[in-house]
Amino acid sequence: MDDFRYLDGSLFCEGVAMREIAEHAGTPCYVYSAETFRQHFIRLRDAFAPLNPLICFSVKCCSNLAILRLLTELGAGMDVVSGGELFRASKVGGDPKKFVYAGVGKSDAEIRYALEQRIGLFNVESEMEFENLSRIAGETGIHVGAALRVNPDVDPKTHRYTSTGKRESKFGVDLERAAAFFHAYGRDPFVSLRGIHLHIGSPVYTTDPYLESVTKALVLMDELAAQGFHIDTLDLGGGFGADYESDQSPPAHEYAQAIIPLLRDRVANGLRIILEPGRTIAANAGVLLTKVQYVKRSGDRHFAICDAGMHTLLRPSHYGAFHFVWPTEVDQALVPPRRARELFLPGLERTEVVGPLCETGDFLAEDRMLPPLNRGDLLAVFTAGAYGMSMASRYNSHPLPVEVLVEGDRFRVIRERETYDDLIHHEMA
Ligand code: LLP
Repeated sequence: MDDFRYLDGSLFCEGVAMREIAEHAGTPCYVYSAETFRQHFIRLRDAFAPLNPLICFSVKCCSNLAILRLLTELGAGMDVVSGGELFRASKVGGDPKKFVYAGVGKSDAEIRYALEQRIGLFNVESEMEFENLSRIAGETGIHVGAALRVNPDVDPKTHRYTSTGKRESKFGVDLERAAAFFHAYGRDPFVSLRGIHLHIGSPVYTTDPYLESVTKALVLMDELAAQGFHIDTLDLGGGFGADYESDQSPPAHEYAQAIIPLLRDRVANGLRIILEPGRTIAANAGVLLTKVQYVKRSGDRHFAICDAGMHTLLRPSHYGAFHFVWPTEVDQALVPPRRARELFLPGLERTEVVGPLCETGDFLAEDRMLPPLNRGDLLAVFTAGAYGMSMASRYNSHPLPVEVLVEGDRFRVIRERETYDDLIHHEMA
């Protein structure tokens, strides 16, 4: 699952005590395990090895340069969705040919920038976008490959905000329009339309939605081939799960074993597969450290008010997402045997773990049985490596938190904590 574990009642990331990191870097603080990132990437790569896919890390989930560099060095490509993400990806020495660019609202400036960077593949999401891409590619004289993002109308059975493959979603083009799309644009002189892109949602905890969407994509690809269009790339998107609770997600090889049989022969015949994993690599590789500022009672409820909140980790308040929360220092009897919604350990108290912001929706964990907390206690919010820091904001004018990367028994700051001066840097009074 990851390299965060308790030793003698203290939480460690690899060989470093989380308490030591908090003392050095302060809180709130995102702590990442380099080894967990590596292991998750390697496990996915090995599981899908029979398809020899290009694995493009989804930059949106964890976009710190040190993380992008670590994954680039392991051979990852990058999945970007904005000019800003492309800028980040291009800063760490990755090969732009291994970059794919999706997103429903690419601006002219972003398209031009991506063309100039000579990225490998545009994932195009609408007719109008293709026409715009074709116009700009023609103006700049730069040739590029493109995949059509199709909407397979498959239910990924996930939160409605992150469900992207159903008919009513804003993403991609309906499957029924795909053939007409290729007839209209499949012979463009600058944009070579030669791939199909799918991304049905995130996280997807069963393999069936993948089977259904890949099967539909293959039928489409055969139809297109019969009509003379050569499709050499199938991008399956991301969406594989993570362990917010212990063993919640199918392991990489389970997704792989389901998908590989559908594609093995086609890969042998030259089809290139792309994966765009984010969460499954990053989520368990990061923990958010926060300090309890105060404890208080209101009515029957017991609050632990922390220095992190919805501005630091938006997921609980925005999606109702579960993150396991536990103190970093506990008596041996209170070391959590696993990460779960309910643990039956002695002396736990029903607690609301909330942030400092002026909103009732500002919480990290609601109605949670936790060891009794006191001012100054350090809490770990687990599985926060994906869509944690990358969705953090400065709401209520809190500077963005610090990020730390652990390697073995060493750690280093990979993003400094912002200062008050950073808050107003771009403002004119
Ligand atoms: N490819 C595309 C086109 C995507 O839109 C996404 C995620 C991914 C790949 C990576 O998906 P992953 O492997 O990480 O599941 N903020 C939400 C998740 C939003 C996902 C957006 N798209 C959350 O915190 O759960």
